[in-house]
Amino acid sequence: AFQVELRRSGLSLQVAPGQSVLQAVAAAGVGVLSSCRQGVCGTCETGVLDGVPDHRDSILDDDERAAGDCMFICVSRARSERLVLDL
Ligand code: FES
Repeated sequence: AFQVELRRSGLSLQVAPGQSVLQAVAAAGVGVLSSCRQGVCGTCETGVLDGVPDHRDSILDDDERAAGDCMFICVSRARSERLVLDL
């Protein structure tokens, strides 16, 4: 499990191992548009303000992965204990 802070919403939440960040964010009452939920369409793109994403999408190239300033929260997780998202 890891922590996610939604900076604009002022919320912090825990993402359980079997849960996506998208599911955790939705459960906290914050709406994020999504479509494929498989990391291929790009709809759920979310800005990353702090922390290191564990990219599991099929969209970003290596440079974008390394930059770590956005992620697709339907599939991607965290390498750090905590992520701060622009939500
Ligand atoms: Fe399609 Fe996340 S919903 S990439």
